Amino acid sequence: MTLDWTTSFLSDAFILRPAHKSVKLETTDMETFVTYSVQGDIGVITIDNPPVNALSSAVLEGLRTAFDALEKHTDVRAIVVMGSGRTFVAGADINELAEIHAGIGQMPPFHPVLNAIENCTKPVIMAIHGMALGGGLELAMAGHYRVATPDAQVGQPEVKIGLIPGAGGTQRLPRLAGVAEAAEMCAFGDSIPTDVAKDWGILDWIVKGDLREGAIEFAHEVMGQPVWKTRDRDDKLIPTEALAALRAQCKRSRRNLIAPLAAIDAVELAITTSFDEGLRREAEIFERCLFSDQCKALIYAFFAERAVAKVPDIPKDTALYAIRSAGVIGAGTMGGGIAMALANAGIPVRVKDTEQAALDRGLATIRKNYERSVKSGRLTTAAAEERIARISPQLGWEGFDQVDIIIEAVFESMALKKQVFAEIDKIAKRECVLASNTSTLDIDAIAAVTSRPEMVIGTHFFSPANVMRLVEIVRGKATEKPVIATAMALAKTLKKVGVVVRNGFGFVGNRMVFPYMNEAQFLVEEGATPEQVDRALTDFGMAMGPLAMADMSGIDVFWRIEQEFPPRTGTKAPEAIAKLYAAGRYGQKTGAGFYRYDENRKPVPDPDVFKLVQKDTRSISDEEIVERCIYALINEGFKVLEEGIASRAVDIDVIYLTGYGFPAYRGGPMFYADLVGLKKIHARVVEFGWTPAALLISASRLAANERT
Ligand code: NAI
Repeated sequence: MTLDWTTSFLSDAFILRPAHKSVKLETTDMETFVTYSVQGDIGVITIDNPPVNALSSAVLEGLRTAFDALEKHTDVRAIVVMGSGRTFVAGADINELAEIHAGIGQMPPFHPVLNAIENCTKPVIMAIHGMALGGGLELAMAGHYRVATPDAQVGQPEVKIGLIPGAGGTQRLPRLAGVAEAAEMCAFGDSIPTDVAKDWGILDWIVKGDLREGAIEFAHEVMGQPVWKTRDRDDKLIPTEALAALRAQCKRSRRNLIAPLAAIDAVELAITTSFDEGLRREAEIFERCLFSDQCKALIYAFFAERAVAKVPDIPKDTALYAIRSAGVIGAGTMGGGIAMALANAGIPVRVKDTEQAALDRGLATIRKNYERSVKSGRLTTAAAEERIARISPQLGWEGFDQVDIIIEAVFESMALKKQVFAEIDKIAKRECVLASNTSTLDIDAIAAVTSRPEMVIGTHFFSPANVMRLVEIVRGKATEKPVIATAMALAKTLKKVGVVVRNGFGFVGNRMVFPYMNEAQFLVEEGATPEQVDRALTDFGMAMGPLAMADMSGIDVFWRIEQEFPPRTGTKAPEAIAKLYAAGRYGQKTGAGFYRYDENRKPVPDPDVFKLVQKDTRSISDEEIVERCIYALINEGFKVLEEGIASRAVDIDVIYLTGYGFPAYRGGPMFYADLVGLKKIHARVVEFGWTPAALLISASRLAANERT
């Protein structure tokens, strides 16, 4: 398999080869990943591959060497395997899978090593702390016994990157846990705690005290008894109707995904065929999943979040401003959510509004959100109270001269934002970061009213800001690098994903939404129903359809943006939103927009929409809907790249994956473009009568040349 140029172009920042592990593999002794010692009659093998002891080829080779040595060692009568540091083994090395995708790697030797461990003539006790996930659990199941600390977790999460367990997990797990339990674990990928794992038969003993001592004590107990190979167990291999129910559940809740169903198929093989044949078929299914577009996209998405954390011109050692306290201006939807995000991360925050009523409303919402978390068991009452106590509502400026960052979240009005920034410029200390949560406005114009534009930056949170992970970090012309690095570090502290973008109307995410939304409107005008447009796009995998999204955000909000951001010269404007706005249909908030809403805000199709906006009654296919909306997004994405608003395709993808509900199994709009083929996208863009981005034209030409 070779990478075509477009993949490497689009993924110039996507770490296909971050592989420090491979470097280690080439330059150091493999056995340093695995050490062993002999303690009386017990051999203890320790896996040491920080940070999470990933089961890389080097670790597998190290295990093979250690087992060979201890099998021959005449004093040794049982073997304990442990992980060094904070965990047992948290999974296979995803770098190595990405290398296989890139055509520069090969499958690690899972089967030979795990089979050799299982065939060891001395009892093998796997001693688990932290996590035994994916390849880690598969390794553990190749041992003859498993003991674990009470707080450990075990699971087969491969499905989350589009895979099934590929090191015997689908064959060994049903033999230990039962067919239904194994299928559920492999299809949904959630890990389970030790008490459940012990009930299900995955673990043999929970060690209350020191794990090493406990495992050695356990080893002494089982020493001399015949070893139980997992592969030979068959008492739980009973056909069950649970698999049909699980398949139905996957089709509903894991729509479009191939790996969950493939995992159930693989687990079912445990009842229909022999262990060896099961392993062989598991390998086939694994390979089919590994080379699927979904797996490529999910692995890309996994690395993409790390890639965006490294901003090309901001060195890792850039000095940071310490953020120990914060001020938020505006206690509305966003201000309240941002205050919660800060308080959740332990940062005390002052929240200022102009009216007591607005403050009261804001704080009541914050309190209600925390109460909901307490009710659902996600937070203790004490923790919630502690967080609320970190939020100080106020009408004046007291304390704002001391805070390390001020985040403005007042109404989206340039005049108001300028007024607020002129005021905070007078109050804030010199080294305070001045941030705006504007979703569209010019950061440079806002910065220009201050005496320190180098300290001004955009931090565009997404709603609800205490939940959504994305923060677009908008660097202005003058923003200094330490301020950018500080905003990125803060996003990380808040457990969010910061993506650095440049200044421009709507930045990256919202800028791209407009053409997408325009196409959705055109489609309704041409004869598609709003529900068909939304369904076609949710079937494609979007978390929400564009028209339901417009109703949720507010038709009035979109209308206002359309006034400021009319379609580019030469393109006609859709009129649906303007007509809904004129009819007072502002979306959910007024009970009607593209849909009608009942008292529970459930959307109901509304024939009145046709009368209002329809111009034609053409029958439109779902395929056309998806192509027009998604390709509009992609074409604008190329323009965003061309203009340098986003510096890398991966930045756009992460923005869409974390902020706009783009399906991770399609990798983000730019990765998806590459999967579809740029030549095809360019051709369709031309057929639709749009102006293709210059970068799309050149990229599609190069892609075509490459293939001929
Ligand atoms: P909102 O209307 O819910 O809240 C704005 C708050 O600012 C109100 O409580 C208002 O009383 C207060 N305010 C107005 N002038 C003020 C002043 N001079 N000093 C102190 N407080 C003042 O608005 P929302 O939705 O929270 O939006 C705030 C900002 O966040 C806007 O720039 C918006 O574009 C942006 N944004 C909004 C998102 C959303 O989904 N609502 C998403 C991302 C960004």
